[in-house]
Amino acid sequence: MKRFIAIVLTMLMVISMVGCGATEKSNDSDSVIVGVSMPTKSLQRWNQDGENMKKILEEKGYQVELEFAENKTESQISQIENMITKGAKVIVVAAIDGSALTNVLDSAKEDGIDIIAYDRLIMNTDAVSYYATFDNYNVGTIQGKYIEDKLGLSEGKGPFNLEIATGPLDDNNVVFFYGGAMDVLQKYIDNGQLVVKSSQTTREQAATPNWDEQEAQARMDNIITTHYTDEKIDAVLCSNDSVSLGVQSALKSAGYGTSEKPMPILTGQDANISNVKAIIAGDQSMSVFKDTRALADKVAEMVDSIVSGKEAEVNDTETYDNGVKVVPSYLLEPKFVDESNYKELLIDSGYYTEDQLQ
Ligand code: BGC
Repeated sequence: MKRFIAIVLTMLMVISMVGCGATEKSNDSDSVIVGVSMPTKSLQRWNQDGENMKKILEEKGYQVELEFAENKTESQISQIENMITKGAKVIVVAAIDGSALTNVLDSAKEDGIDIIAYDRLIMNTDAVSYYATFDNYNVGTIQGKYIEDKLGLSEGKGPFNLEIATGPLDDNNVVFFYGGAMDVLQKYIDNGQLVVKSSQTTREQAATPNWDEQEAQARMDNIITTHYTDEKIDAVLCSNDSVSLGVQSALKSAGYGTSEKPMPILTGQDANISNVKAIIAGDQSMSVFKDTRALADKVAEMVDSIVSGKEAEVNDTETYDNGVKVVPSYLLEPKFVDESNYKELLIDSGYYTEDQLQ
């Protein structure tokens, strides 16, 4: 009898341990913390990116710590430190300054935390496990080709006046945006079909700190007053939508946007609401649409793989060298958007409602 009782007790203990284990496991997966560190709330896209990530990750059962750093690197570092302290298992980072996170990410790595670089590559560290972004080189190529097509450059037309306004030096994406566009346009600058009257053609000269609209406007105001008193600008390569808006304001205050002096060809990127409105109004020619819903989905899949101890799916293991390692990357395809296809791309796909673009 004693033996029977001992066996029953042992069985009960085993059952209760297995039971505990099962509860613990489900508690575990419920309480996996994922940090999401976004650069700023001041641009529409990062708000969308942050909210999309939070929604998708929460639907998958993760606890999400979402922070925006108002374009201040020190804030981003302390927000990431907080995520480490709170016990995040994975931290998704869209860096403000891609080269300024080495120390904080080293401590994340020491704690066994995986880092996913979101949209912008994080430089000089081996602590980053994966990178998910759009094909940034292709973003630049799309912009460059648009200018090439609209001006008829491949048919030999010209000369035309071009100016260039790109992003900040600390965003590694700019190397690709600028590089992709210049790989299309440089030959026309070299053969004189495109003339850059300001002579500001390098990435450094054409930079816009922090992608700031006012900075872009002030620089373009200056270029217009110094170099375009007698001649007009035919095209401005703008690397993104905030830069494009700043350039549009400078052009408008210099009298562009009338039938005698139409707006030049102007590119952009992100298909932000104000810029799609500008496309509809004829102030901006095009933008590059990066469906941030798809990027958030991809990153959430990466998080799942990491948490379940698997390798995440990537489609590029060559392009994104951060100075310490080539970071395995997943690149999504950006799409060209202008007046001809915005309805289909942005409204029919549910990205925006028609009302938002009124
Ligand atoms: C992103 C762009 C964005 C820009 C400004 C870049 O790193 O790839 O989509 O327009 O930052 O926030």
